[in-house]
Amino acid sequence: MTTSLSPDLARLADPAVRPDPYGVLRTLREASPYTDPASGIVVVGRRSDCEAVLRNPKVSSDRQGSGITTVPQMPNLMNLDAPDHTRLRRLAGKAFKPRLVQQWRPRIEEIVRELLTDIAAGENTADLVSAFAYPLPVRVICDMLGVPREDHPVFEKWARSIAYTVDPQLVPGRLSTEVVQEVEEARAGFVGYFGRLIAERRHTPRADVLSELISAEEQGDQLTESELIITCILLLVAGHETTANLILNGILGLLRHPGQLRLLRERPELAEAAVEEVLRYDAPAQMITRIAREPFTIGDTPVTPGTPLLVLLAAANRDPDVHRDPDTFDISRGDPGHLGFAAGPHFCLGSVLARLEGSIALNAFAQAFVEPRLDAESLRYRPHVAVRGPDRMRVSFKEIR
Ligand code: HEM
Repeated sequence: MTTSLSPDLARLADPAVRPDPYGVLRTLREASPYTDPASGIVVVGRRSDCEAVLRNPKVSSDRQGSGITTVPQMPNLMNLDAPDHTRLRRLAGKAFKPRLVQQWRPRIEEIVRELLTDIAAGENTADLVSAFAYPLPVRVICDMLGVPREDHPVFEKWARSIAYTVDPQLVPGRLSTEVVQEVEEARAGFVGYFGRLIAERRHTPRADVLSELISAEEQGDQLTESELIITCILLLVAGHETTANLILNGILGLLRHPGQLRLLRERPELAEAAVEEVLRYDAPAQMITRIAREPFTIGDTPVTPGTPLLVLLAAANRDPDVHRDPDTFDISRGDPGHLGFAAGPHFCLGSVLARLEGSIALNAFAQAFVEPRLDAESLRYRPHVAVRGPDRMRVSFKEIR
């Protein structure tokens, strides 16, 4: 796609901007919609425009060959369009019904307690990236899929490698051949592993998501073997780093706004609202991309077929036309919905699970950590632009209750 980006857009990819991209996002939102002169990317940042693009049947999620992603993608929910997408989504959705997901609450609470016990056993300080936020979603989804505990570490490693594929390549050539190779190895590992696990579950079904996916059926149609494998990989990848960042961005928001932390401690019933505010204020998925399939216009900006669109969810979430005091972190705001899980046909399939994990984790943090303090020096961000979040975040505390 991009041989170069105009300076405003290039700033998004600047590592120095990663800790606080909101000034740049604001500039882009206010200038949007517009076509970036250097790259030809159409930048969309206003809430109404983002929503219109995400719901527009003239845009495609198939970015293959567009240059936006340099790692070859397997056809999955995220990059297919109707009608293939509709079919796959219906079948996969059967394993992710809210009622089925809610049944995992006790297990998620148990995993959170295990992680807190390990943290409490150490010094009165912990890196909440490696000790809390990253292990939680992997353990949860591995348990849901029925992956045995001893295999979780290798899953975490593979999932981290594949995370590169969900980041749009704003900077050409940023992915080295080593990274591409790592991604291919991780994929091969997943394919072999899930192939074996699926064979086991076909033989002996269990009460897990994998067995649900295998048995999901609609008018005689079922997921094929390769669709099953690809969907399992997608669930791990799509729900790993995003959920970890939801928890980390949430903890960071609470630590930086002690009044909000106090509020959550006193009113644990605000945990769900706190999750919504994190998804709005510091969105784990900052932006997504689309390709125009047919001509259309956004505002005065004409979009021609083949044009890449950059949909800035994190900018839309702070659009003052929709959210009052958009730059204020307020867990009790109760505003209309954000675009943290996107909108339209590709709206996050795992939103119920992410909300559940996020609210349990944020509540546990608020209740368990006595006098938590952020070691600001320790805070480092991962290089990813789209799925943005801390890579290291040390917090010290008096005790864990
Ligand atoms: C799609 C965000 C957690 C599974 C998406 C999309 C976003 C998103 C923005 C739309 C992508 C696009 O339209 O191009 C998030 C955030 C999460 C989260 C912020 C955590 C806070 C999860 C979890 C799972 C999951 C826990 C599953 C275990 C998926 C899947 C899709 C998706 C399968 C593709 C849906 C489709 O294309 O039909 N997510 N997600 N996500 N998410 Fe999530």
